[in-house]
Amino acid sequence: MTSSATRWAWVEVDTTALQHNVVRLCELVAPSEVWTVVKADGYGHGAVQVARAAIAGGASGLCVALVQEGVRLREAGVDAPILILSEQPPVQAPDIVRHGLIATITSHEGLASLNDAATKAGVEAAVHVKVDSGMHRAGVDPHNAVDLVSAVHRAGHLALAGVFTHFACADEPHHEANARQLATFNVVLDEIRGQGIDPGVVHAANSATTLAMPSARFNMVRTGIVTYGLVPGAGVAELCGEFTPALSVKARVSAVRMIAAGDAVSYGLRRAVTRPSTIATVPLGYADGVPRALWATAQDVLVHGKRCPIAGTVTMDQLMVDVTDCDGVQPGDVVTLIGTDNNETITVSDWSSSVGTIDYEIVCGISARMERRYL
Ligand SMILES: Cc1ncc(COP(=O)(O)O)c(C=O)c1O
Repeated sequence: MTSSATRWAWVEVDTTALQHNVVRLCELVAPSEVWTVVKADGYGHGAVQVARAAIAGGASGLCVALVQEGVRLREAGVDAPILILSEQPPVQAPDIVRHGLIATITSHEGLASLNDAATKAGVEAAVHVKVDSGMHRAGVDPHNAVDLVSAVHRAGHLALAGVFTHFACADEPHHEANARQLATFNVVLDEIRGQGIDPGVVHAANSATTLAMPSARFNMVRTGIVTYGLVPGAGVAELCGEFTPALSVKARVSAVRMIAAGDAVSYGLRRAVTRPSTIATVPLGYADGVPRALWATAQDVLVHGKRCPIAGTVTMDQLMVDVTDCDGVQPGDVVTLIGTDNNETITVSDWSSSVGTIDYEIVCGISARMERRYL
C-alpha cells in the first residue's frame, strides 16, 4: 500500500463545483440576492470551505441553523452576513449580538432577550421575522405577524432587516399549498407595509422554490441543496441539471480474498455467492455515514472504473465488495462509493433512492471521522 494517508477512507469536496453552482444561482435569480445555506457543516461538505466558495461565487450572505454554527464561521474569519434560520434559546442572545449574527425572531420572548442583549452591548442588532405561512414548523402566526414586526420596529436596540417564510411542499411544484402559502405571506407583507414599516429583505425560497417558483424569489433566496449539486426532490430533479455535485466518497481496498461458491460474507452471512468469488474489504461503514441498508439493494461501488456490488451487510467500520468481475484488484486500490471513476458515476441520489431517503440525509450523515479533502 503506497498511500501515506492516516486513513484509507475520505471525502473529496470540489470547491470549484460549489463556486460554479453559486455563480449559476446568482445569474438565475438576479437582481435577487443569493444567501447560501451552510448549516449542518455545509450539508456535510465543510461549512467554512463552502462559505468561502459561496462568497467567491457571489453569495451575499450565509444561513445557519445554530448560533454555534455562526460563531464557528466568524472564528474562521468569515465576515459575511450570517442569518440564523430560527429563533434560538434566550441564553444565546449575547453570543448572537457579540458575533454580529442576524437573529430570526418568532416570539415576543425572543424579541425581548435579543433587545436586552443588544442594549447591554450598546449596539443595534439586526433581526429577521419569520412568518408561519402554512408549514407549521416555525414562525409567528400570520395574524400576529404585524404585531411582532411592529414590536421589533419599536424596540430600542433592534433593526428589522428582513421578513421571511418557508414552504412545506416546494419540491412538489404543483402542490396547491405553494400558492396558498405565497398568498398568505403576501397578505402579511401588505399589512406590514400598510403600517408604514419597511420589511427589509423579503425571502421565501429554498432551492426547490428558487428553481420552480420565480414569483417567490422576492429580494433574496436561501439556497442549500443545489449549491452542493444535489437534488431537493424528484419533483424538481429536471430543473437541477446545470448544478454540479461537489462531493465524492472514496476509500482504498484494505484486503482481498477468495471465497468458494455457496459461501457468504459479513454479519449474518446473508447473501451466498453462486460462483467462486473475489471479495475486497473497504474500510468504511455505517459509522462513517454509509447506510447499512445499502447492502440489501447490492448497491454498486466503482473499482477500476467498473461497477461492483456490495456483497454483504455494511458493518460499522468496513464493508465488503464483490470484485470478481474486476480483474487484478489489490489492497490500496481506490474505491469510489460516490463520485465518478472513468465513465461510471454513482450519485448521492443513487444512495438516497436505494435506501428510501433524500439527498440531504445522506450528505448530512457522512460523519466527522471522515476526513474532508478539498480540491
Ligand atoms: C428555513 C430554511 N430555508 C432554506 C433552507 C435550504 O433548503 P434547501 O437545501 O432545500 O435549499 C432550509 C433547509 O432546510 C431551511 O430550513
